[in-house]
Amino acid sequence: MRTHNLAVIGGDGIGPDVTAAALLAMRAAADRFGFALETTDYELGAEAYLKTGVALGEDTVEALRGHDAIVFGAIGDPRVPPGILERGLIVALRIAFRQSVNIRPVRLYPGITSPVRGVTTENCDLVILRENTEGLYTAGGGSLHTGTPNATALQNSVTTYAATKEIVEFGFQLARARRGHLTLCHKTNILVHAGQLWEQVVAEVGADFPDVTTDYVHVDAMCQHLPMNPGRFDVVVTDNLFGDIISDLGATVQGGLGLAASANYNPTGSAPSMFEPVHGSAPDIAGKGWANPAAAVLSAAMCLAALGERDAALVCEAASASVLAELPTFAGPDMGAETEGLGIRIAERVATIEPGALGDPDRSLMSLLAAVAPVRG
Ligand code: NAI
Ligand code: MG
Repeated sequence: MRTHNLAVIGGDGIGPDVTAAALLAMRAAADRFGFALETTDYELGAEAYLKTGVALGEDTVEALRGHDAIVFGAIGDPRVPPGILERGLIVALRIAFRQSVNIRPVRLYPGITSPVRGVTTENCDLVILRENTEGLYTAGGGSLHTGTPNATALQNSVTTYAATKEIVEFGFQLARARRGHLTLCHKTNILVHAGQLWEQVVAEVGADFPDVTTDYVHVDAMCQHLPMNPGRFDVVVTDNLFGDIISDLGATVQGGLGLAASANYNPTGSAPSMFEPVHGSAPDIAGKGWANPAAAVLSAAMCLAALGERDAALVCEAASASVLAELPTFAGPDMGAETEGLGIRIAERVATIEPGALGDPDRSLMSLLAAVAPVRG
């Protein structure tokens, strides 16, 4: 029997609850399609940090490296100063495991209402690919004259040919498998050095994809185009900071944080990829059992796809969408549902729904991820 060996980091706040629901759906899919999941829990996050003073030890990184994939909930806690866990754990893992592509599908599923007028299931199906290891997130820089009127902060941005090429190549492959269009989003008119490198790589890689059309949109203009006309986009490639911002805008366009899934993807398979809902630990509703687990299940679906389990991935996605469509609203405590019950409903639907329930499976993100799934060795 095929076996996938997963690391599970539930994390803080609502993280462990939504992760439990994601695992329930994954196991239901494994039962249906005849493979096995082995899981190992890692106690990482605020509790562990407060106990040990370490966000992520070297031994833990090496243990995590041995897994086929990482399923991640969320971290963040009011008792821990901002940045320690976000930088010390999530960003550290993204960099350590060279998860250079953050995959953020922005899709309005049938039966779900976007808060943005005019956004429909037909015109809202795009994928934002955010460079996940560089840009302004590398911590390069420093502070001078801190606490004086001359206080000065430098925050450097890094753009390398290698990481840019990795994400752009993945973007073209994805675009070719979908509707054949790739958009570069940047700020090339001001950030000329990084911008030129991105443009050069898109032109260079694009030469091997004559069937994929390309265009370019400045990031500020993107904040206008994405909500007003999502249908003009298929695959968007962008830098780390711009991607962080526009993908949250995308989460709103697609109906809210309850639906926003992400993958921290290593396209080479040299280390495990990590799959997590876009939302954080939601301390305001932690422990109340109100969190919507759908974003976590949708992220788990991408995990299954990246492990080569296409049909399992498709049914986890379709089951989440179909259960969500039955709810009145999708984010916040008034969504009229509770985590455990919803998780059970989604897992039950995983057992019966058709892999093609959301449309042509061959053109879906899940199929592409499964088709290019790197073999980890
Ligand atoms: P958040 O995403 O945790 O919460 C924002 C709002 O959305 C809150 O009102 C929350 O109750 C609601 N919400 C979030 N997920 C929900 C769900 N599944 N169902 C229903 N309602 C949901 O963002 P916030 O409050 O800015 O950050 C809280 C903590 O999480 C901070 O420590 C932050 O640094 C951390 N964080 C961690 C992330 C990660 O683990 N990747 C990502 C974003 C934030
Ligand atoms: Mg963000």
